[in-house]
Amino acid sequence: IQTQRNGLLLLMVKDRTFMRCPTFGAVATLLFFWLLVVPASDGQTFNSFHPERRDWIFNHLTVHQATGALYVGAVNRVYKLSGNLTLLVSHDTGPKDDNKACYPPLIVQPCSEALVPTNNVNKLLLIDYSQNRLLACGSLYQGVCKLLRLDDLFILVEPSHKKEHYLSSVNQTGTMYGVIVPSQGQDATLFIGTAVDGKQDYFPTLSSRKLPRDPESSAMLDYELHTDFVSSLIKIPSDTLALVSHFDIYYVYGFASGSFVYFLTVQPETPENSMSSSGSSSDLFYTSRIVRLCKDDRKFHSYVSLPIGCVKNGVEYRLLQAAYLGKPGRILAASLNLSAQDDVLFTVFSKGQKQFHRPPDDSALCVFTIRDINARIKERLQSCYQGEGNLELNWLLGKDVQCTKAPVPIDDSFCGLDINQPLGGSQLVTGHTLYTETRDRMTSVTSYVYNGYCVAFVGTRSGRLKKGRVIRVANSV
Ligand SMILES: *[C@@H]1O[C@H](CO)[C@@H](O)[C@H](O)[C@H]1NC(C)=O
Ligand SMILES: *[C@@H]1O[C@H](CO)[C@@H](O)[C@H](O)[C@H]1NC(C)=O
Ligand SMILES: *[C@@H]1O[C@H](CO)[C@@H](O)[C@H](O)[C@H]1NC(C)=O
Repeated sequence: IQTQRNGLLLLMVKDRTFMRCPTFGAVATLLFFWLLVVPASDGQTFNSFHPERRDWIFNHLTVHQATGALYVGAVNRVYKLSGNLTLLVSHDTGPKDDNKACYPPLIVQPCSEALVPTNNVNKLLLIDYSQNRLLACGSLYQGVCKLLRLDDLFILVEPSHKKEHYLSSVNQTGTMYGVIVPSQGQDATLFIGTAVDGKQDYFPTLSSRKLPRDPESSAMLDYELHTDFVSSLIKIPSDTLALVSHFDIYYVYGFASGSFVYFLTVQPETPENSMSSSGSSSDLFYTSRIVRLCKDDRKFHSYVSLPIGCVKNGVEYRLLQAAYLGKPGRILAASLNLSAQDDVLFTVFSKGQKQFHRPPDDSALCVFTIRDINARIKERLQSCYQGEGNLELNWLLGKDVQCTKAPVPIDDSFCGLDINQPLGGSQLVTGHTLYTETRDRMTSVTSYVYNGYCVAFVGTRSGRLKKGRVIRVANSV
């Protein structure tokens, strides 16, 4: 779900359709009170748009901030629609002959496997505002990207001659996320986090890439930095997969705020002290984590990752389903001691830490302030630089590595050194729980500021939409 500037709400309903409806009716007065439940089948007052084929479902939706045009990434198609859901342009991305076992794709090196018509699932759909183009990455050919002109979806380039051009062949949505960081007068940077499905040698789980202004540039999607010693990428070590056989990191959401880039992930928990015990995927515990990097850190020395979740009445909600970075509005900002311009993060979690692949319906909507998240990261950095404990990042380091004491002042903009990195942690960063729902799992979230009030919208598994006004938060832990 997404809001449009004119106060209309866009709903993307899995498998079916795409709708638009008015958002603002009466306003509630309670702390967090739901006042609107829209059954998805009531099409009467909505505009709608359907994919060409039922199974070519929609994967991503992006609304252009200035023109209001909608870009939809679907299986085998990228669409451009007007604000009223009139189809303007359709761009074909598949199906094409491919085989997941072929690497690198045919265009580079012949493959002996049989090629079969394969769907191209849209994995990433980002607007590069500074260059008026759309980055659309798919699952075909080990995950290649296209740059399309925003106006007419004319293809500017489809880089595929280098290893860096393949992002990941995983064809499930909710596994890859990207953030474009523009830079005044310079080329933008693209941060990408992705699941790798056991191909950890080919695909980094997290990396930052060049996004040159010139689409023909030979540096397109190159790692920002790549040397024998330091690089702007992180790969999952093979040892981790040897010990936890289904280990992977799913990137559910990402954003930039201030001088940092953040990703929200879900991944199997690895044993705290050693990586000796291993389980089958059915009894793995999962953890959601927030990862932070400095925007300008090409060496990835600023990598910090902490577990994130929320708690209500002693029940932990740890399986991230969706997130949205929004603004608090005047009223909620006052309650959180923020300014209305500060960022807040709305999140939906399912209960517990098991069943990541079939999440429990019991779910919670929570809000975090970026200020609190940064404060927790700063505390973690400070304690490690006092030489206390370990780096606590066993999936990446493979062993306990002690924090090194160093007399370094750590302020709000600290971007790491070559010691004490990459840094993990085990203390949960908890948000403010706004609402819980036990039967109809919440699966999407967005927010909107209206007359100084922060209004949150939540979509559920059964296709219901809920709306609530967030006035203040209680620390409900
Ligand atoms: C939808 O929007 C387009 C352009 O924004 C406009 O030309 C068209 O008339 C609109 N259609 C309807 C049914 O309102
Ligand atoms: C994703 O890949 C799996 C296995 O290769 C396949 O069975 C499935 O149909 C694919 N999904 C789509 C949408 O094509
Ligand atoms: C509110 O935030 C400011 C800094 O932004 C801080 O100085 C002040 O102590 C905070 N007040 C409360 C009550 O937490």
